[in-house]
Parts: sequence; structure tokens; C-alpha cells
Amino acid sequence: MSARANVRHPRREGPVLITGGAGFIGTNLATRLLEEGHRVVLYDNLSRPGVEANARWLHQRFGERARIDVADVRDTARVRAAVSDASQIFHFAAQVAVTSSLLDPRDDFETNLGGTLNVLEAMRGLDAPPTLVFTSTNKVYGALDDIALDIAGERYQPRDATLRERGVGESRSLDFHSPYGCSKGGADQYVLDYARSFGLPAALFRMSCIYGPHQCGNEDQGWVAHFLRRALRREAITIYGDGRQVRDILFVQDLVDAFVRCQAQMHELAGRAFNMGGGPANALSLREVLAVIAALVGRAPRTEYGPWRVGDQRYYVSDTHAFRLATGWAPVVDAREGIARLHDWMIESGVPTRAPATTANTRTHAA
Ligand SMILES: NC(=O)c1ccc[n+]([C@@H]2O[C@H](COP(=O)([O-])OP(=O)(O)OC[C@H]3O[C@@H](n4cnc5c(N)ncnc54)[C@H](O)[C@@H]3O)[C@@H](O)[C@H]2O)c1
Repeated sequence: MSARANVRHPRREGPVLITGGAGFIGTNLATRLLEEGHRVVLYDNLSRPGVEANARWLHQRFGERARIDVADVRDTARVRAAVSDASQIFHFAAQVAVTSSLLDPRDDFETNLGGTLNVLEAMRGLDAPPTLVFTSTNKVYGALDDIALDIAGERYQPRDATLRERGVGESRSLDFHSPYGCSKGGADQYVLDYARSFGLPAALFRMSCIYGPHQCGNEDQGWVAHFLRRALRREAITIYGDGRQVRDILFVQDLVDAFVRCQAQMHELAGRAFNMGGGPANALSLREVLAVIAALVGRAPRTEYGPWRVGDQRYYVSDTHAFRLATGWAPVVDAREGIARLHDWMIESGVPTRAPATTANTRTHAA
């Protein structure tokens, strides 16, 4: 039976729960929902350095309608309580770092897989569960070493014309690499299976690289923001590999639009996984992003080169046709325009003057 056939009737009342709500994506989504008049609970343990500023900013701007619940997704009872009165859930809270997953696989497992199971189990216990959108990652497709690539100027490009035109679709085999890949990929599969086995109204996005305001990006996660910040500070940027690796970058506002559409159409979309990113039109190599940044800041950023990182995809571009077809969504912010907006936000908010702390919990390969 398809997951959609037995999808349970969702709860319609109650606040929107965003786990990891003080993080980059959570803050942008919360802003949109609060502007639309929703009440929002930001469930976050504030473990990512810098995110308290996001929580403060939301609270100052929206007052009590933005409630901060400082709690951990590994805390089963607290998760159950938060889920019990929510109308919708966005489950973002995660250990986001490949490298720290290698240093402490158990912590990664307990947060990403255990935390997700806590959310799903809390939903399963309700007669009318809230609807859920989960954020998975393009890392579930592995290193994609089998894709034949050519060098075309400053970037890699697939030899296969269809892949070049469309990107990587959801039919690509799953191939989990690293403890992070396993924990996010495992959580991805649990979400799909809870929709199938228990009729939970839940869907997920396998996301490529997202960027935009409120991003506490550092060397290993949030690389567009990291590059820009270092360029503004005149600090050197380390490129791992040759810089020709390509990602389809998606401005966070377009992602937020996709989230809202996904929740609104959950009855049809439950049980499905969608690749989500800027697509071929917004695919840039690291070198090409550096050139965009050079034009914005008025000088070429200083760069240093390091060895390739294990498992780093030379080419990842999302094929987003399935989600477009289902919802009519399409990104509207072009990559160059989006990077310019991130640049302006950094200048206005004074972010470049502060050095972001790098802790084990924030080191990762960018998605
Ligand atoms: N940003 C991207 O490019 C990207 C790409 C693919 C997938 N994702 C996924 O999207 C989600 C959000 O990413 P983001 O970029 O906003 O990251 P982020 O680090 O800015 O936000 C994650 C938030 O979760 C919180 N958190 C971490 N561990 C927690 C725990 N145990 N309990 C409660 N809160 C906890 C952190 O304090 C942080 O505020 C994550 O699940 C991430 O894996 C992001």
C-alpha cells in the first residue's frame, strides 16, 4: 500500500514546532511563519555557537509568539510534551557535522537518529498527529564517484547530457557515507517508514547547499557564508580539492517557500522524499562563487589549497522536478542575487567583525 493511502488526519490547532528553530534555517522559517501570524515554538538546545543571537532576534521582533524552548531532542519526555500540542512540525535539530560524527559517532547517532525517533514516536502516540517535514541531506547519495565528469573551465560537469540538464533525481541509489551520512540517512528512512507503516503525515527534503541570512557558517558547514565572511575580513579561505567541485545553491527564502508548500499539501505528499536545491540554473563551483564574492567585496579573496576531503562530491546538483511537479514550486532568487543579499545582510548586521567559534559540533562537509 502506498504511504498516501492510509495517511492519518492531522491536527489543525496549536503552534508550529520547529526543532533546531534557533538555527539558520529555523530562524528564516520562523520569521516567515511569525509574519503570517502563526505561533511558533523554537525547540533548541542552543548548542551551535552563535544561534542564541538568532533566538534573541526572533524574540525581540515577535515577542511571546516566538517561544523559545531550550531543550534537547534526545530528551524523550520534553519532545513528547512539545509534539503533543503542535499543529505542524519542522524537525531540523541535528548534529550537522561529518567531521564531528567521525570523532563522536554515538553523539551523532543519538542526536540525529535518536532525536528523530523521539519525534516520530511522540507523533505515533497521538490520535491526530501534527504534520512533519524533516530535513535530510544530499549526503544520502554518497560520494557519487561513478559519475563521469569533465573539466569545463572553472568547474566539473557530467559527461552525461541528461544529468547535466536535470541533476540528480530521487531514484539515485542510497549510499550512506560517514556516521553523519548513516544517522541522517537512517532518520530519512525512519520518517518514510513511519509514514508508510503508521500513516504519519510526514515528508522530507534531501537538501543540497542552503545559504542566506542568519547563517552561522564556518569552514565545514555553511561554506557560502563562511567564504563571504572571510573575504570581508580579508582572511584566507582554504579550498579543499581544486575548487572545481559544483553545488546547486539555494537561497533560504526559496527553501522556506518549499517548506510551506509541503506542509499545505501534506495529504498528497506524505511518505515522499524530494531532492531540494537550486537546481542546474543555480549550480556553481567553489571557484565561481569566489569570483562572485570578489565582485561584491571589490577584491579577489585570498585562497589556500588543501587536500580533497574524504567523500566530498565533485558534483552534486539536485533534480527538483518531482517537487515542482507536485506543488508548482520553483526557486526565484538567482544565485548571484542571493549571494549579494547575504553580503548585504552581513554588512548590516555587523557579522564580519565577529569570529565564529569552531567547535567539534559545527565541523562538517557542507551539504
Ligand atoms: N544548511 C544546509 O545547507 C543543510 C543542507 C542539508 C541538510 N541540512 C539540515 O537542515 C537542518 C537545519 O540546518 P541548519 O543549516 O539550519 O543548521 P544549524 O546548525 O544552523 O541549526 C541546527 C540547530 O539545531 C540545534 N541543535 C543541535 N543539536 C540539538 C539537540 N540535540 N537538541 C536540540 N537542538 C539541537 C542547534 O543549536 C542549531 O540551532 C539540519 O538537520 C541539517 O542537517 C542543512
